Amino acid sequence: MDRRPVVLAPLTRQRSYGNVPQPHAILYYQQRTTKGGLLIAEATGISDTAQGYKDTPGIWTKEQVEAWKPIDLMVLKSMELMFLKDQVNDRTDNYGGSLENRCQFALEVVQAVGDEIGADKVGIRLSPFASYSEAADSNPEALALYMANALNKFGILYCHMVEPRMVKLGEKFETPNSLRPIRDAFKGTFIAASGYNKDGNKAVSTGYTDLVAYGRLFLSNPDLPRRFEIDAPLNKYNRETFYISDPVIGYTDYPFSHQMSKSLFK
Ligand SMILES: Cc1cc2nc3c(=O)[nH]c(=O)nc-3n(C[C@H](O)[C@H](O)[C@H](O)COP(=O)(O)O)c2cc1C
Repeated sequence: MDRRPVVLAPLTRQRSYGNVPQPHAILYYQQRTTKGGLLIAEATGISDTAQGYKDTPGIWTKEQVEAWKPIDLMVLKSMELMFLKDQVNDRTDNYGGSLENRCQFALEVVQAVGDEIGADKVGIRLSPFASYSEAADSNPEALALYMANALNKFGILYCHMVEPRMVKLGEKFETPNSLRPIRDAFKGTFIAASGYNKDGNKAVSTGYTDLVAYGRLFLSNPDLPRRFEIDAPLNKYNRETFYISDPVIGYTDYPFSHQMSKSLFK
């Protein structure tokens, strides 16, 4: 069977006190590291004015950069932009209005970051269909297709897209929309996310996507790739502890499958 790496989706955990990554994040990411796996780090602020939630990590001070270093060895970082959607972008300059204008800033960022570190180290995540935080677009499919085509010229590492069924965080909806045309338009590695369970492998084997990223299941199963491999039962996630600031609870205390079988035989 074709088993591709199980990708960790970006997950804001709000445990970076004062916007500084903390030592407990090393263990959290380490627990989820496997050979050949891909971990996408939580959303990371690039300035003190680019803040969405309390205690999210930043990368604009020397202290933050230093604090990332021991974690950095293993993960790719993600940053969020909000320019693309017509219901949030009310700019009247060259970065607002038409679809092309709204996409311009994101494409310039991809270009600039690619020039700095190499396009083969740049990944992008888009949630065109999502409507939470009052961020919706009147034609998400056109937006996604435009971006997929425009991104082709950069040769980036991957394009990661959230399924249309996940218009609200944590709630799955039936929808006629599919990532298929977008996946077909994008020529590089495509990562789909949202609402996947063990069916993720089917999405890969049928060519619907190259890789699948898991959010809540990877959060609650540090050894998710191994569990898929041996078809082990999965820990249930606890929504109540997603965003609490405890350095351990709901963060690094979800058991591995071997710990569970030990406790069963005690
Ligand atoms: C606790 C939590 C935090 C999240 N934080 C982010 C985030 O910072 N940026 C982002 O793009 N998506 C974020 N997401 C969305 C996930 O990356 C993913 O798309 C979502 O959980 C659906 O995938 P799943 O069904 O595998 O959980 C978050 C989801 C959860 C549950």
